[in-house]
Amino acid sequence: MNILLLGSGGREHALAWKLSQSPLLSNLFIAPGNAGTSSLGSNLSLTLTDFGSIRLAVIKHRIDMVVVGPEDPLVNGIHDFFLADHALRHIPVIGPVKQGAMLEGSKDFAKQFMNRHGIPTARHRTFDKLTIKHGVDFLHTLNPPFVLKADGLASGKGVIICETCDDAVREFTHMIQDSRFGAATNKVVIEEFLSGTELSVFILTDGVSYRLIPEAKDYKKIGAGDTGLNTGGMGSISPVPFADEIFMQKVEQRVIIPTIQGLFTEGIEYTGFIFFGLINVNGDPFVIEYNCRLGDPETESVIPRLKNDLVQLFMAVAGKSLHKETISVDPLFAASVMLVSAGYPGAYEKGKYITGEEKISDSMIFHAGTGLDHVNGRLVTTGGRVMAVTTMGVTMQEALAKGYQNIEKINFEGKTFRNDIGFDLS
Ligand code: AMP
Ligand code: GLY
Repeated sequence: MNILLLGSGGREHALAWKLSQSPLLSNLFIAPGNAGTSSLGSNLSLTLTDFGSIRLAVIKHRIDMVVVGPEDPLVNGIHDFFLADHALRHIPVIGPVKQGAMLEGSKDFAKQFMNRHGIPTARHRTFDKLTIKHGVDFLHTLNPPFVLKADGLASGKGVIICETCDDAVREFTHMIQDSRFGAATNKVVIEEFLSGTELSVFILTDGVSYRLIPEAKDYKKIGAGDTGLNTGGMGSISPVPFADEIFMQKVEQRVIIPTIQGLFTEGIEYTGFIFFGLINVNGDPFVIEYNCRLGDPETESVIPRLKNDLVQLFMAVAGKSLHKETISVDPLFAASVMLVSAGYPGAYEKGKYITGEEKISDSMIFHAGTGLDHVNGRLVTTGGRVMAVTTMGVTMQEALAKGYQNIEKINFEGKTFRNDIGFDLS
């Protein structure tokens, strides 16, 4: 089978690494990919929102299945585009149709969906330009801190947490009136702040049945102790010790099953991953957000623990026979630490030579912002998040200790990382 994987981050390198281990795979194409994926398949230089070019590449390379890594093409309807095209409609797309992707593409849609299906989430209301005054009144009914969310996709920057009501009123008004995140802020969700520990739970579904794959915890802040600015993710750990059997049973009964049944009864055909961003409030799970894809950098610690043949699982999704598959998980801990460019998540320089990867044998390196120098073919940095170093161990501490030793062997100018991944879990 020929597979086209869309995306270019550490998540996609981890997926490519896993797909390439399958005897069911013939040729793997990654678009646009990175230097890491180029050693596992052929990178194609495509823009992920240019469905016409993707169509041509799918036909040219006789692609049998498309796996979508990031949310943008899904929210923009790539799956619907395939279904509407005579030449493409028989090709399975792993990733939901646009309406399913709305669980991530619109916070208001997700909240209304959760209300309809009794799924636990923070108390909330949605406002637009015409109802700003009601939004201000609603803020006065809540206790600090205050959570404001842009309705649409805002590259992970759409959530603002304000400590005082005055700040929240000012920020809320600014978000809507001045379209702070463009069309994403045509509507703004105001919600109650929930206090607890977050985790990311993932399922793969064929729309009827689902399978849990390992959960993870990610570390979003740039600084040690979860301080400083938000990033795309600085590391992840899997499994999450507090996600024990009792907690996960609550997650399945209260969140996952009602979500799958809700999608089914609403006629939304969902094939692919659902990422439940949850918060554990005194032992009870609440949904912070849905995503219509795997997380990054969670994937870099989740996928190495999955023992199944991923192509086989995707074929089962396409054939609606996922109920016949049994998930097998490595009991070892996986710890993934992201190496980033100096200055990230602010301005940073690119084009720094990366050395030392070949000296590492007992960690996996998943590339994110890497490329090959046009002139000499050497590995260089091309982004803020450069690569994830994932290490397995009997305990989280063992995995991290080995991982941090290996990180010392990798060098590029400005190499930056958090040295306390997992600090809150031991
Ligand atoms: P989201 O994009 O919805 O995941 O929100 C980004 C981050 O904001 C989350 O990972 C949480 O850390 C935080 N957050 C969002 N909603 C809430 C809430 N209701 N209570 C507490 N923290 C929240
Ligand atoms: N790690 C969070 C995300 O992928 O959105």
